[in-house]
Amino acid sequence: MLTITTIEEIKKWRNDFQEKHPRKKIGFVPTMGFLHRGHLSLIQKAKETADIVVVSIFVNPIQFNDKKDFEAYPIDLQNDKALLSDLKVDILFAPSKDEIYGSGNPEIIIDYPSYTNVMCGKNRPGHFQGVLYIVHNLFQYVRPHSAVFGLKDYQQYLLIKKMTEELAFDIDIIAADLMREENGLALSSRNARLSKEGIEKALQISKALFLAKEVWENNKNTTAGEIKTILFEKMKNLEIEYASVYNSEILQEFNEEETFHRAVIAVAVYIENVRLIDNVILE
Ligand code: PAJ
Repeated sequence: MLTITTIEEIKKWRNDFQEKHPRKKIGFVPTMGFLHRGHLSLIQKAKETADIVVVSIFVNPIQFNDKKDFEAYPIDLQNDKALLSDLKVDILFAPSKDEIYGSGNPEIIIDYPSYTNVMCGKNRPGHFQGVLYIVHNLFQYVRPHSAVFGLKDYQQYLLIKKMTEELAFDIDIIAADLMREENGLALSSRNARLSKEGIEKALQISKALFLAKEVWENNKNTTAGEIKTILFEKMKNLEIEYASVYNSEILQEFNEEETFHRAVIAVAVYIENVRLIDNVILE
């Protein structure tokens, strides 16, 4: 695996590669590192759909609306590199904060208000704008043919798909399924910050989501309000930021009395000051 740390080098690599292999397709998986099975499944998917895979690891400071959350974000580049080598990833792009933002934070704002003003965007001002900015720029540096994003971050996936379409990037955005532990817990780099008791508490999240899904599958006339009642009841010991039912294409929240044919049930909770998100898709 070749590790590249500068923008100039990754651009050069990209140009050289395409010149030598004009028919080969480049797949891209952007991450913030501290890799787990969820990330690895994205890489697997990229390998299946491209000839060569670039993974990036960059903890993007401008997408953290909470400075403490940024400072507490787990990092283990050595272990990540070993995992990527095992998977036979071709290129790792791992720039420093200075390499990306050395000349100061960007002034331009990339936003998609109808998709950023709901769910996670409501309580994390600047978060998705920071994500869109870095993904936009990573796309410019790597210029991949396809890029894989996980449905764990459902809103992020949709936003990036939208940005790519409207800014006319020629990049195929591929969705990868949400990966869980056997006990149901959604895999996340942030799980590493939870104590044993915290993990135990976090299991309530997927249990609540699975129950809501089951209830809806058994009765498709279940209203959004009834789903919310199940979620709040099953997670009553948790500090809930939001837990609701959204249109899975436009992310608008359903009204309490509404029923639906497709939806995403999404939640964000805080456990031991760690923000955890999870979702299930109903279709
Ligand atoms: P990060 O949280 O490291 O996630 C990188 C990618 O892995 C995202 O596409 C995310 O949805 C996916 N992922 C994380 N946990 C997953 C799981 N349990 N199952 C499936 N996929 C999972 O998301 C980011 O980084 C950043 O916002 C980034 C896009 C890199 C921009 O900075």
